[in-house]
Amino acid sequence: MEDWIDYYDSTHTIYVSRTHRDAHFRTIARDIAGYIPAPDAVVLDYSCGEALSANEVAAGCGELILTEPAPNLRARVAARFKANPKIRVLSLQQIDDLANGSVDLAVINSVAQYMTPSELDTALIAMHRVLKPGGRLLLGDILRPDVGALRDAWALLRFGARHGFLIDTVIGLVRTALSDYRRLRQSVGLQRYSETAIIDKLRVAGFDPRRAPANIGYNPARMTFLATR
Ligand SMILES: C[S@@+](CC[C@H](N)C(=O)[O-])C[C@H]1O[C@@H](n2cnc3c(N)ncnc32)[C@H](O)[C@@H]1O
Repeated sequence: MEDWIDYYDSTHTIYVSRTHRDAHFRTIARDIAGYIPAPDAVVLDYSCGEALSANEVAAGCGELILTEPAPNLRARVAARFKANPKIRVLSLQQIDDLANGSVDLAVINSVAQYMTPSELDTALIAMHRVLKPGGRLLLGDILRPDVGALRDAWALLRFGARHGFLIDTVIGLVRTALSDYRRLRQSVGLQRYSETAIIDKLRVAGFDPRRAPANIGYNPARMTFLATR
């Protein structure tokens, strides 16, 4: 396993149980839905992962474009949502085929930590191109330099306790500590950004950014930014 895309394409155990996975995607979908500007809006989710609750996001918008680089994962997502005419599934390369100014809301959630800084710059420029003037990019789950793995574990334990999978969380944390995740975290690493660093990056890509009041998802130690094109 070479990188994080391989990791997410594999049968990994990042979700400690089915209950965790379902609660995670329900929470993300609810949070994303809160940012949809209009019922006919076009929403693009960059590196959507399993996107298990995408039907709920699609219900609140006109079209949902799910994009995912990991090929097996992408095929699974395409099969899962093939019955929903509002949902399209694309590779990251296929974003180049989307028209300028054709998207109202772009979401990059829990992805920046896995990208090199220059990959993130490229993605921000691509999102700026596809967004309509006044459209918004939601950049979520940014890891800060001063917050380490222990705070992540604590946030997951609290989420597990709230949703009834605390024991699975404890077992899952031990399993993760012994897994490819730990190995990749040490070899490839996770990118972290301060608030000012990410604001600068978004400005350089042409956005008018601000920090959102709360992070998307369950980890309050991470940051979400809202950037207007
Ligand atoms: C933690 S999952 C997040 C999925 C989803 N956005 C969510 O919020 O649940 C990380 C995602 O980042 C993608 N990813 C990993 N490395 C990447 C890279 N270098 N460039 C783009 N996407 C990447 C993975 O394929 C996976 O879909």
